Amino acid sequence: MDRILIQGGTPLSGSIDISGAKNAALPLMAACLLTEETLRLRNVPSLVDISSMARLLRQLGVAVEGMEEDTDAGGVGGAISLDAAGVGDTFAPYDLVRRMRASILVLGPLVARFGEARVSLPGGCAIGTRPVDLHLAGLAALGAEIAVENGYVRARAAQGLRGGAISLPFASVGATENLMMAASLARGETVLANAAREPEIVDLADCLVAMGAAIEGAGTERMMIQGTDRLGGADHAVIADRIEAGTWAMAAAITGGCVELKGGGPAILQAALGKLADAGLKMEPGDGRIRVGLASGRVRASDVVTEPYPGFPTDLQAQMMALMTLAEGCSTITETIFENRFMHVPELCRMGADIRIDRGSAVVSGVSHLTGAPVMATDLRASVSLILAGLAARGETEVNRVYHLDRGYERIEDKLAACGAVIERVGG
Ligand code: UD1
Repeated sequence: MDRILIQGGTPLSGSIDISGAKNAALPLMAACLLTEETLRLRNVPSLVDISSMARLLRQLGVAVEGMEEDTDAGGVGGAISLDAAGVGDTFAPYDLVRRMRASILVLGPLVARFGEARVSLPGGCAIGTRPVDLHLAGLAALGAEIAVENGYVRARAAQGLRGGAISLPFASVGATENLMMAASLARGETVLANAAREPEIVDLADCLVAMGAAIEGAGTERMMIQGTDRLGGADHAVIADRIEAGTWAMAAAITGGCVELKGGGPAILQAALGKLADAGLKMEPGDGRIRVGLASGRVRASDVVTEPYPGFPTDLQAQMMALMTLAEGCSTITETIFENRFMHVPELCRMGADIRIDRGSAVVSGVSHLTGAPVMATDLRASVSLILAGLAARGETEVNRVYHLDRGYERIEDKLAACGAVIERVGG
């Protein structure tokens, strides 16, 4: 199994291309199931999760082509074409679904277009129980008969889905996406209240509208979707990855360096902007780029509570905690989205961090330095937080279980090495 070795202590300096957003690309790929025409996606990041979704779509009968170099979108990812004209199967087996929770996003499109689907309950990062009850209740409100048996969800709507009023008890990102897609092919109007407002939702809505859907209110709490009986193809560029951008901003700060993030303006850091500024980061926006680094001296302690967008993203919590381990003062980091998302804490402590868990909060007392150590993590963002800590630590850090990083960060060691980090991947 690959490992990443880092010799810490070099301030990052240089520029980094931000890849297309994984969390936007995955639902966009599932959207291909809504039409028999071709959906072309550009700026798709080259990641294990993207390959997993491609494998699942192929299994269903989608012709997936591409990952050729993308020149016209100006991004660093690839273009893929997804053609779901020949879908003959609506069965998504455990073996393909278990790798990734986002696989559940095929459920809504399949039942909407074909009137039935059988999809395994998903797996994904080990960051809590992560049920899909909101997806299922929403589809039931659109007229699907839902049964959960033997680890599978069976959804049926022989006469097709019909629009309905849905109020999500929690603004779930995935449930909002599944229901937007399903409602786009339902009869009549759907009103989705307490919808998630993440930029990835807006990106999906933009693509669905380009496919012929009628969606209003994406990016707000209340979405209205007028169903249609047929959607067409589209050509859509995936938005830049705001979580990746935030990760590199913090990587620059934790090393006392400064980097230029290319592929997104300041809006890309929006949800984290206030907290990053509190921590002492300086951001200079440019045209489609942003320069970010530590304004001076040492990082300052900043309290963080994770919340649905536009609050501070849970996907940046672990990285923020790594940054806070070296801050001047004491910070409290509270996780409200996932119940088990502090798995990086014991590993950061092994590197010399001073962190105490108090129920859903981590109390981080800044230390003067971290020391390198062999570490590992069991989810994507926890793993990258250890990379950040390793970049700042004295001596060598060995990050194991690198496959978690490959799920969500494209060419991580290349991007960091290009900014002066002493980092390499070693096989075996
Ligand atoms: C998406 C992101 C993930 C991010 C998360 C929160 C993708 C592919 N993944 O995940 O990186 O961390 O948003 O910003 O976009 N929940 C339920 N029942 C449900 C659905 C969710 O209880 O039916 C709970 C989950 O267990 C979790 C919380 O709601 O505690 C947030 O989940 P959700 O917003 O659905 O996240 P995902 O779409 O899975």
